[in-house]
Amino acid sequence: MLTHRGIYFGWEGGEGAGKSTQSAIFARKFQTEFPGRSVLLTREPGGCNTAEKIRKVLLDLNQEGNLDSMTEAILFAEARHSSLTEVVRPALMNGIDVFSDRTFYSSLAYQGYGRNLGVDVVWELNKDAVGIVRPDLAILIDIDPIEGLKRTANKNREQNRLDLEKLDFHQRVREGFLELAGREPERFMVIDGMLSKEGQAEVIWEGFVDRFPSLETRTEFLVNKERSR
Ligand code: TYD
Repeated sequence: MLTHRGIYFGWEGGEGAGKSTQSAIFARKFQTEFPGRSVLLTREPGGCNTAEKIRKVLLDLNQEGNLDSMTEAILFAEARHSSLTEVVRPALMNGIDVFSDRTFYSSLAYQGYGRNLGVDVVWELNKDAVGIVRPDLAILIDIDPIEGLKRTANKNREQNRLDLEKLDFHQRVREGFLELAGREPERFMVIDGMLSKEGQAEVIWEGFVDRFPSLETRTEFLVNKERSR
């Protein structure tokens, strides 16, 4: 059985929740506090050549209307398979901490709930890629999509094919994320996206310290577990 030594952080949330801002703040602080640890920043879909190519297809606005939901779900799973195999798993096995902007939970929420494919169907597509390597901590920034979409529109941020979905799609995605978080409270940390940027950063850091009271102890524990196999 595979046991990893690096810590796997997943950042999740709907559009405009502030995920990227928070993950950048967190990564900076983490690196300052733990200068001895190596960190890898990655994203889904993406993170390796193949997955970045698939990303282009998935997010391309011109694809609108001619990518059916199942094809979309399969492509997200394919991208994930290559980035987890080529990049994320080897890094974790080498003791590198991985910060991933989205993980398979996004597929469960967007394709499972948003596209109504169902969580079980989407999990089936992803289970070989994911295996037992799930985020040790999934940070979900939760926001009402009415507010989130307003923020992305105001920011003039580049829009992708999924951003343009209707409000009820984004509402299902939000509910999906919250349901997933409720099922695995030990893995998820749910952050109120209406808090200020600084407020969110503080809650996230405190929650992290709370769950990982001693990083060094934790690493040692995992190494020992590997040795005892
Ligand atoms: P991105 O530009 O990275 O947006 P964001 O800042 O919101 O993360 O685009 C990723 C989009 O792909 C986003 O709309 C969420 C969606 N997505 C899925 O639908 N399924 C998935 O499995 C993943 C990883 C992302």
